[in-house]
Amino acid sequence: MEVIICENSKKAAKLTAKMIANAINEMPNLNLGLATGATMEPVYAELVQMNCSGKVDFAGVRTFNLDEYVGLGPNNKNSYRYYMDSNLFDKINILKSSTHLPDGLALDENKECERYDQLIKKLGGIDLQLLGIGNDGHIGFNEPMSSFASKTRVKVLTPETYKQNSIYFNPPESMPKRAYTMGVGTILNSKQIIMLITGKKKANIAAQAIEGPLTSMVTGSAIQLHQNVTVILDEDASSNLKMKDYYNFAFKNNPKWAKYQ
Ligand code: F6R
Repeated sequence: MEVIICENSKKAAKLTAKMIANAINEMPNLNLGLATGATMEPVYAELVQMNCSGKVDFAGVRTFNLDEYVGLGPNNKNSYRYYMDSNLFDKINILKSSTHLPDGLALDENKECERYDQLIKKLGGIDLQLLGIGNDGHIGFNEPMSSFASKTRVKVLTPETYKQNSIYFNPPESMPKRAYTMGVGTILNSKQIIMLITGKKKANIAAQAIEGPLTSMVTGSAIQLHQNVTVILDEDASSNLKMKDYYNFAFKNNPKWAKYQ
């Protein structure tokens, strides 16, 4: 695992976008796993800018989102399909037919989970997965005690996640209590992972996921099992890390990061 600490959240989002753009430039038909949430908004804004100024081309890229609320369709402003269309897909030159999320309106939930995992497999697996982390340590919507071997399935959200996300719903109680999510196993099958964590209120959970014991109580800690992970944090989110000096030293002294400094 490599840990990069940026001065502020803007720089962290910029670096994340640059790494994604570089991966696309190296592999124009990249299979890109995406996340939603407030942390990702500046990353998508940056990718939109880079696409508009010709620095990255999405024409050959396929995307797979981590999750979607059960019961919400593409026209619902709180659905993750709506979030992705409005923050990214409608603003870049990607083929809409190449953008995939679980279908929140699917009639058969089990079949939908099976379809999504099969689709990822059939299209060659995920090359690069972007992750955020929830206040309760979740990645995707893999709430505490999700198996590290889990595949796509429907999870009931924790009260903490409900509190974190219901602020976006009007009324807040209209937020669905269940969501489709790629499993921890699905996420670990991707070839590369970038996790972005920003803000003071994530400092504690960031330290648990990065340096704490491997435990399904903090599903984000599962990234410790992956061979190619970069965690990007801002100063605020990094404040509880014990090995901060080493991460900064490694970033400065590993030639592979020279182009990002
Ligand atoms: C959503 C997702 C979640 C979020 C997490 C953080 O697709 O994958 O795990 O990354 O809940 O959300 P924000 O960024 O809103 O704090």
